[in-house]
Amino acid sequence: MPEPLNKQSYSLVDFFEEDDYSESETYNEYTKLTRMNVARISHRVEQIKSDPAMLAMMARSWKSYPGSTVTPLPPFRAPTVGFAETVLRRRSVSSLGRDFVGEAITAEQLGGTLVMAYGPTSKIESRTGDVQHLRATTSAGALFPTEIYVLAFNVTGIEPGLYHYRPIEHSLELIRSGDLRAQFAGLSSYQGLCLTSSVALVLTSVLKRTMSKYQHRGYRFAMYDCGALTQSLYLSGTAMGLDTCALGGIYDDEVAAFLGVNPVDEPVQLGFLLGPRGAEMGTEKQQ
Ligand SMILES: Cc1cc2nc3c(=O)[nH]c(=O)nc-3n(C[C@H](O)[C@H](O)[C@H](O)COP(=O)(O)O)c2cc1C
Repeated sequence: MPEPLNKQSYSLVDFFEEDDYSESETYNEYTKLTRMNVARISHRVEQIKSDPAMLAMMARSWKSYPGSTVTPLPPFRAPTVGFAETVLRRRSVSSLGRDFVGEAITAEQLGGTLVMAYGPTSKIESRTGDVQHLRATTSAGALFPTEIYVLAFNVTGIEPGLYHYRPIEHSLELIRSGDLRAQFAGLSSYQGLCLTSSVALVLTSVLKRTMSKYQHRGYRFAMYDCGALTQSLYLSGTAMGLDTCALGGIYDDEVAAFLGVNPVDEPVQLGFLLGPRGAEMGTEKQQ
């Protein structure tokens, strides 16, 4: 076994020095901003800024399902809990050492979680007069490549099914109705968490929405955007009185097939589970 700690320790890395990470390192190389590629990327940005058709397209940065049945989410009422308290309360249920409590959440709680994480909070007008929405979570170039799919398992006032979130209208587009909890849990390595949750969100990235502006660098930006949205979902869910947990343990391509999205153009990034708040941190167990 290698020496566990040296003076430049990177923690676990010291124990697995023989691992081959060359493929991930290639990703890192290709997505760097360098003095070689900055001119090419800047040229593309300028090209977009000077073309009214491209500006208009850029302002419309969301996916939609034309002809789908639309369920409006309840009007948003801001929770009274403060920011500091929300941050201190935020927890993944898995780190509390338990599953979700397995009961219903309300449509208000779901809607509040979504709108405070990804809803529109401001508008700007481009030179061409196109309205561009800015949202609760930041996004590189305001392109918002992340899409949110909502699996409602147990939500008072919302029929069970698979939906797509329309952030600007604050509504859900129905993709498939029915009780999909067991099917979704079968696509995760954390079945207990999924089976007890009330809602599973799936975040995907429409990669070319960002890459067509920033090229390979845009791939990295799409990941950053997804991470920023994840933290917002943690905080907004917590503020709405919910238990939360990010869910990396999903089989990407099987979930993409389940959603009906192309895994190359719109890869699945992360699951995110919600349920009513259960017991607080078991400090006794931690001691
Ligand atoms: C990207 C990401 C993926 C995660 N995936 C899982 C998961 O698949 N299963 C799980 O139990 N917890 C998952 N978590 C939760 C983390 O394990 C948890 O955030 C970590 O233990 C820190 O705890 P905290 O969020 O309560 O601060 C994930 C968190 C992140 C940020």
